[in-house]
Amino acid sequence: MKAPRELWTSRVAFILAAAGSAVGLGNIWRFSYVVGTNGGAAFVIVYLIIIALIGYPMMVTEVTLGRKTHKNAIGAFKALAPNTPWWLVGALGVLAGFVILSFYSVVAGWSLSYFFKTIGGSLGAGADFEGAFVSHISAAWAPVIWHAVFMAITLAIIAAGVVKGISRTVRVLMPVLFVLLILLVLRSLTLPGAGAGLSFYLQPDFSDLTAQSILAAVGQAFFTLSLGMGCMITYGSYLSDNDDVPDNSAWVVGLDTLIAIIAGFAIFPAVFALGFDPAAGAGLAFITLPAVFAEMPAGVLFGAVFFLLLSIAALTSAISLLEVVVAWLVDEYQMARKKAALMIGVLIFLLGIPASLSMGAVDISVGGMPFFDFLDFFQESILLPLGGLLTAVFAGHVWTARTTRESANTNHGKIVIGAWYEVLIKYIVPIAIAIVMIFGLIEALG
Ligand code: PFF
Repeated sequence: MKAPRELWTSRVAFILAAAGSAVGLGNIWRFSYVVGTNGGAAFVIVYLIIIALIGYPMMVTEVTLGRKTHKNAIGAFKALAPNTPWWLVGALGVLAGFVILSFYSVVAGWSLSYFFKTIGGSLGAGADFEGAFVSHISAAWAPVIWHAVFMAITLAIIAAGVVKGISRTVRVLMPVLFVLLILLVLRSLTLPGAGAGLSFYLQPDFSDLTAQSILAAVGQAFFTLSLGMGCMITYGSYLSDNDDVPDNSAWVVGLDTLIAIIAGFAIFPAVFALGFDPAAGAGLAFITLPAVFAEMPAGVLFGAVFFLLLSIAALTSAISLLEVVVAWLVDEYQMARKKAALMIGVLIFLLGIPASLSMGAVDISVGGMPFFDFLDFFQESILLPLGGLLTAVFAGHVWTARTTRESANTNHGKIVIGAWYEVLIKYIVPIAIAIVMIFGLIEALG
C-alpha cells in the first residue's frame, strides 16, 4: 500500500525547512562574489528592490501553488491546468534541480574540506590564502571526493524522508551560524583599513550597473530564495490546508535577506583591509574568510566551526534541490523514495564531476567558459528567471491572479495579500523579468 504523503509537523517546521533551503551557499559564497564582480553597493540596492518586488510575491505564489495542490513541481501545474503544456514549467524546474545541485555540491565539498584544512592548521596566519584556494579547487581528486561525500549525505537524508532529519537539524544550527557571522562582522569591521570595504558595500555608484549585472541580481534573488524552479512549490505542498502562506513566506524571505546582508559585512571590510580583490570571483569567501579567522584569537576554532556550519547550511539547501526531483518521481511514478533518491543522487554526482574538474584540473569548457561557470550562468541567466517568469504568467493569467491571491489568503495570519499582488504578478513581475533577461542575455552573449 502507498504511504500517505508527508506533511510538516508544525508551522515552525515549514519555516525552518524553507529557510534552511533558502539560506545556504547562496547567501555567503555566491552573494559575496556576485556583489564583488558586479560593482558593490549599486548592485546590492537593485538586489533588494528585486527581493521586495519580485522575490516576496513569487515566494507567496509558489508556496500557494504547493499548498493548494499538495503536489510536486510538475504535478502542481498538471493539477491546476490538466491537459495543457504548463507542466513543462515544472519540468524546467526539475532540470534546474539537476543543474544547480551538480555544482552546488562541488562548492559544498570545498566547504567540508576547508573545515578539515582549518583544523589541520594549514590556513593559519601568514598562509597564502589565494594560492591555497586555487590549488585546492584545481586538484583532480580531492574536490571530487568531497563532492561525493556531500552528495552521499544529501541522498541519505532525502531517502529517509523530509520531516525527520531536516527540521531538527536546522532548528539548532541556524542560530549558531547567525551568531558566528556576527562575530565575523565584528572582527572584520575592526580591522585597520576596513572603511574602504564599507564604502564599496554601501556607497552606490550607479554607473557600475549594466544590463548583465541587473540580470545577475534577478538570478541571484531567485537562487538565494530557492525560487523559479518549483522548490517552494514542493515544500509548500507539505503544508496542511490550515497553514498560513503570507506570514510564513515573509519569514523565509526576511531571514534569507538578513543573512546575506550580514555576510556582506563580514566579507567586504576584510577584503579591502587585507588587500584582496573584490572581483576575484568564486573564491572570494574561501580566500577572505580564512584570512579573517587567521587574524582572530582562537581563529582555528572559529574557522572550523564556521566551515562546518556553512556545510550544514549547504546541506539544508541541497536536500531541497534533490527533493524537487525526488518528489516528482515519487508522486508521478510511484517510485520508492529510496530508489529515486539513490538514482538521482548518483546522476547529479556524475554531472558534478566535469564541473569540478573544469576548475583547473582538466580543460572542459562550454561557450568559452569552464563547465562549472557555464552551469552557473545557465541557471542564473536562463533557467531560474525563465521558470519564475512562466510561473508568474501561469499564476497571474492562467489560474488567474484573483484566484491565486484568494488561495494565498486562505487561513492567513497577520499579513493579508492585497490587490497590489495582482498588479505585480500579472504585469510587473513577468515584464520586468522579460526585459532584464532579453537585455542581459544580449549583453552577455554579444
Ligand atoms: N537557496 C540556496 C542558497 O542560497 O544557497 C540554493 C538553492 C536551493 C537554489 C534550492 C534553488 C533551490 F531550489
